[in-house]
Amino acid sequence: MKTFPSLPKSVEIVEVCPRDGFQSVKEFIPTETKIAIIDELAGTGIKTMEVTSFVSPKAIPQMADAAEVMAAFRAKWKGRVTSVALIPNLRGAEGALAAEADWMNFVVSASEDHNMANTKRTVEESLAEMEKVAGLRGSTKLRVSVATAFACPFAGPVDPGKVLRVVDRALEAGADGITLADTIGTADPKYLAATLSVIREKYGDYPFTLHLHDTYGMALANMLTALGMGFASFDAAAGGLGGCPFAPGAAGNAATEDMVNMAEQMGVDTGIDLLKVLAAVRKMQSAYGLKIASHLASTKKGLEGNCPS
Ligand code: COA
Ligand code: ZN
Repeated sequence: MKTFPSLPKSVEIVEVCPRDGFQSVKEFIPTETKIAIIDELAGTGIKTMEVTSFVSPKAIPQMADAAEVMAAFRAKWKGRVTSVALIPNLRGAEGALAAEADWMNFVVSASEDHNMANTKRTVEESLAEMEKVAGLRGSTKLRVSVATAFACPFAGPVDPGKVLRVVDRALEAGADGITLADTIGTADPKYLAATLSVIREKYGDYPFTLHLHDTYGMALANMLTALGMGFASFDAAAGGLGGCPFAPGAAGNAATEDMVNMAEQMGVDTGIDLLKVLAAVRKMQSAYGLKIASHLASTKKGLEGNCPS
């Protein structure tokens, strides 16, 4: 008899709304509004948050206040919620180090086309820069995010060999964590599992984080597939906000509240207070006018519709 796959007892959910979510909002969100939303999200039980990114303000104007946002975050949450700052280059690393982020998240794509669109560098140039960043990180930890690990908005399906290339270099450089990103959110569960199988075969139980977008509505299905394969760390964005401005067609991330709801319903502990996330998301919508794209925050049923498992 075929049974439901066994799932991890708990998962880590990393809140990326303040970076991936906000970067996709065209109109500048005032710094104090960002900080107010971040404070609410930080109080939901989340352990790690990607707070901002140190990137060129010409590329992403929304992140121009990175230093201020990180300073406010550290003043309130240091030691309680781990802070992450995304960086695309050495200059970004300098910003993240000066701001004393707990982690830097260096982004490099598996596909040449997206890496060029996103960072104006070849993959090799970005990898060489990542190695330099690894050398100057001090006590700040280094995560490497492999963007377009499954599909590229320009080149289509990405050969897993290209993902292995980036992961190998990240591990050789001594990265403290690695994230595999479905940047454009077009992977289906079977396709995702094929790449993850190649990853598992090569790196065993290494605790990768997965970053899933919901463009085709398959982010939760992809999460479940990965959970069944033993992956237990996921990025998510409150309200389902998000999308890389240099990945045409990408929709938002898997919503934190939808992920937490599914996981907790199945007995997988997240440590996150779902009602607090929902309250924060409703406020993002009603007080700050942000466009929400999550199932749970959109249904009138709220949590009453959940089946007892
Ligand atoms: N933070 C702030 N400013 C930066 C910066 C950083 N990390 N990196 C470069 N800059 C500034 C430079 O000082 C320069 O400013 P100037 O024109 O006033 O002299 C300008 O940006 C261009 O610098 P350059 O090194 O030539 O960068 P670029 O134009 O080749 O752009 C990136 C490359 C990586 C900086 C830019 O494409 C970028 O920030 N991309 C962000 C990608 C991203 O966040 N994507 C979404 C998440 S995956
Ligand atoms: Zn993303």
